[in-house]
Amino acid sequence: RTVAVVLAGGTGTRLGLGIPKQLLKIAGKPIIEHTLAVFEAAPEIDEIIVLMATGHVAEAQQIVDKAGFRKVSKVIEGGDTRNATTRIALDAVGDGDVNILFHDAVRPLVSARIVRECVNALWSYTAVDVAIPSADTIIQVDEDECITDIPVRSRLRRGQTPQAFRSGTIREAYRRAEGDPDFAATDDCGVVLRYLPGTPIKVIDGSDENIKVTHPVDVHLADKLFQLAAAQAPRLSHRSYTEELAGRTIVIFGGS
Ligand code: CTP
Repeated sequence: RTVAVVLAGGTGTRLGLGIPKQLLKIAGKPIIEHTLAVFEAAPEIDEIIVLMATGHVAEAQQIVDKAGFRKVSKVIEGGDTRNATTRIALDAVGDGDVNILFHDAVRPLVSARIVRECVNALWSYTAVDVAIPSADTIIQVDEDECITDIPVRSRLRRGQTPQAFRSGTIREAYRRAEGDPDFAATDDCGVVLRYLPGTPIKVIDGSDENIKVTHPVDVHLADKLFQLAAAQAPRLSHRSYTEELAGRTIVIFGGS
């Protein structure tokens, strides 16, 4: 059994819209609806669990019901941090040996190819990450914003999601992390790397389109990418494509 966990417990402070960014409409639909549609359509995925920001569970449930996503078994509240949300998800998945894919709700342009390759990699590995090469040179700085290191770019990758695990591995990593007062991580592969050292974590190719909607400019970018995808998709008639664009929400940017 393979379960997709869609992490939507955040509030999007960097986008600063006053609503969680996963509820923002792009190309006529809330971002989270685009994301869920990919997993709903993926033949490798049996079940989807949604972890939603506090106070917005009912809205997320409404989106699921209206779209008719049949694989979604639960829409529940997330935690205070991304890792707290992951812990709640692990409890919600239940016992037994399952494959679990954790995906950021705010990466709506994840492809069927990426989902398939993550699940396939779990035949050979117990932990899988998705990443792309970095076009920029990545520098490491200290507290004074002075460079301390410039790692060789060809060995660096930018991590995306999904991150996929056999349930035994991710559960054990989180169980060990529980006893650590210094626990801090922004993703789930980091928890395996730190608490189950030696576990091979396979990296599969992500894509430039699989962006995480984080800053205002990403809303424009995602919108354009959906337009491109719609223009290329033979399944959309000209009429429905025009309707998609007409239903698009225009965002007024303000703040930082
Ligand atoms: N996330 C989550 N639970 C949290 C925090 C984040 O499930 N307590 C999810 C977000 O909803 C998002 C993904 O993790 O889908 C990636 O996080 P990020 O882009 O940092 O989202 P936010 O925390 O919402 O954004 P910000 O850091 O700007 O507040």
